Amino acid sequence: MAPLAAVPALRPSEYTSALIQVLHADAGRIRGARVLEVGCGSGVVLAALGALGAVQLCGVDIEENAVAASAQLLEDLGHGAISELHCGDMWRPVAGRRFDLIVANLPHFPMQPVEIGGRLPTWSSGGADGRSLLDPFLTGLVDHLAPGGRAVITHNAFDDLGRSRDLAAASGLPLRVALTTLVYISPEKLARMTGEVLRAEDGRTIHRYGPYTFGELHIVEIGLAVEGAC
Ligand SMILES: C[S@@+](CC[C@H](N)C(=O)[O-])C[C@H]1O[C@@H](n2cnc3c(N)ncnc32)[C@H](O)[C@@H]1O
Repeated sequence: MAPLAAVPALRPSEYTSALIQVLHADAGRIRGARVLEVGCGSGVVLAALGALGAVQLCGVDIEENAVAASAQLLEDLGHGAISELHCGDMWRPVAGRRFDLIVANLPHFPMQPVEIGGRLPTWSSGGADGRSLLDPFLTGLVDHLAPGGRAVITHNAFDDLGRSRDLAAASGLPLRVALTTLVYISPEKLARMTGEVLRAEDGRTIHRYGPYTFGELHIVEIGLAVEGAC
């Protein structure tokens, strides 16, 4: 395969940056890990995990272009021999398998599926409450974590973190917020945000300054290996 240039429609976002920042801060626990990313997009998070010493890089994405781009990126960066990419829905391609670390930056913005900024509707829409992928991810997680394994995921603060904590707890998995940061929300995206969520969260986890809007984003760690979970 010829090396690919960056794919504009798969460009990493501030969500990706925050996720990679938390993974960097925890590099000691990544060396030697077998990792899975659900919704791998460009493959850049897997690339970061490969650079941090993960020994197995498995990626799943529903979009064929994303799978091809991830495979090429990992090959170009010298991780081809430890990489495995699958096109499919969430947990289906990895049924029956377990990993030391599972990462995800799922589509979870509370809005109906719509194309925004040149990205497919499957890129960031999480349905009316933002949870259409978060819920099945959290429900299936326990069946894919190796003993002592954990997940690190992006989680909009306005997507009901309490429900995520309850779902994880129902599987016996503690949840901890590792980082909270602000991400810019474009006017285009804000205009499509579920009205009920916007009204409830405005001034709480959504901060507006004239035409500029920011939302609080958590990076959340889930698993028995998580210290100081609350
Ligand atoms: C917000 S993007 C994140 C991409 C990449 N992980 C990153 O951080 O740059 C979400 C990704 O999830 C993928 N996705 C959406 N629905 C999915 C599903 N049901 N199963 C697997 N992947 C899915 C999308 O195609 C997209 O690549």
